Amino acid sequence: MVVKKPPMGWNSWNTFGYDISEDLVREIADVMVRDGYRDAGYEYLVIDDCWQEPVRGADGRLVPDRKKFPNGMKPVADYVHSKGLKFGIYSCAGVLTCEGFPGSYEHEFTDAAAFAEWGVDFLKYDYCFHPSGFDPATLYRRMGTALANCGRDILFSACSWGADETRKWVKSTGAHMWRATGDLNDSVGGIREHAKMIDRDLKYSAEGSYADFDMLVVGMFGKGNVGVGGCDAEIYRSHFTFWAQLGSPLFIGADIRSIAPEMREVLLDREVIAVNQDECLWQPYEIGGAGWWNPSECPVYCRLLSTGELAIGIYNFGEHDQKLCTPLDRVGLSQGTGKTLVMRDLRTGEIETVLTGVHKTTVPAHSCKLYRCRVVDLDYGPLP
Ligand code: GLA
Repeated sequence: MVVKKPPMGWNSWNTFGYDISEDLVREIADVMVRDGYRDAGYEYLVIDDCWQEPVRGADGRLVPDRKKFPNGMKPVADYVHSKGLKFGIYSCAGVLTCEGFPGSYEHEFTDAAAFAEWGVDFLKYDYCFHPSGFDPATLYRRMGTALANCGRDILFSACSWGADETRKWVKSTGAHMWRATGDLNDSVGGIREHAKMIDRDLKYSAEGSYADFDMLVVGMFGKGNVGVGGCDAEIYRSHFTFWAQLGSPLFIGADIRSIAPEMREVLLDREVIAVNQDECLWQPYEIGGAGWWNPSECPVYCRLLSTGELAIGIYNFGEHDQKLCTPLDRVGLSQGTGKTLVMRDLRTGEIETVLTGVHKTTVPAHSCKLYRCRVVDLDYGPLP
């Protein structure tokens, strides 16, 4: 199975944790269709940990929790499919999941076969309680191989949190996406720290095997399972834009049944999603920030798009408004090339042409600007 774009969907963990059920899945599926998420590209509806009974059945298979999923998983998957969506589930490479339910260690092929039978399309595969001293690559290769041979296309989402140098071995396991970091909590500090960490892994992210920066906390405002104070709307927009520009899979974690309309608009922003889903994931690179030109909490990233345009994102994760600079020679347009950029701000629609070799803009605290830029001849206009 080849996955050509960063996967998109919804995941139960951030908001619901333990409290998942067949009814919840049905309601979320309905809202994904009704409110336009499916049509914007959010394709997978994933239930995370806590869907299982505490012990395996007599036949060695995982058993869905009898209260939460009284009809088993097949009808749940069928319902999700009937809505034009795909169904995802969770397991763990260890003996137990992070919440203490049975993991898939030494049961990889049995579990992959059950998932295929139930109509599962996506497996998130966690890293808790793995046997110490066991090579992590081997653990993930087992499940990757089991999925690739289970007779159904199942997207493999590895979740080893960037631990044990995940980036260096995970692409040998068959993983279509892989967690580059630990869990993101719903706080300004959490988003800022995650944004700083990501740079390390961007060169390992590529089409078909995407670095995953973790589920989105957009619109949670401190509610749910991972809330540590929550954030303001502006930083949620920056968080979404950053994840999207840099090619992370986009999995909504908020309760979309009751999300604020302004936050729904952020998640459904087609221009930003189009950058994320560009035909090609050329490696995004930092062109300022990190102590070089702009403050370190203000990264500036550029990504070459398949159209020849550049996506330039300027972020202020700090607490003060900042004037931020983007020298065009850093994106290959030194003045000797005779070229410059016409930049379209994807939020406001405003267009500006850079005439000085350096783009400068003021970005308020917690905010960001994402531009889609065309390369044009440098033309100062008629001389006076
Ligand atoms: C780990 C993962 C989370 C979530 C929980 C579930 O912490 O990183 O994304 O899946 O386990 O227990």
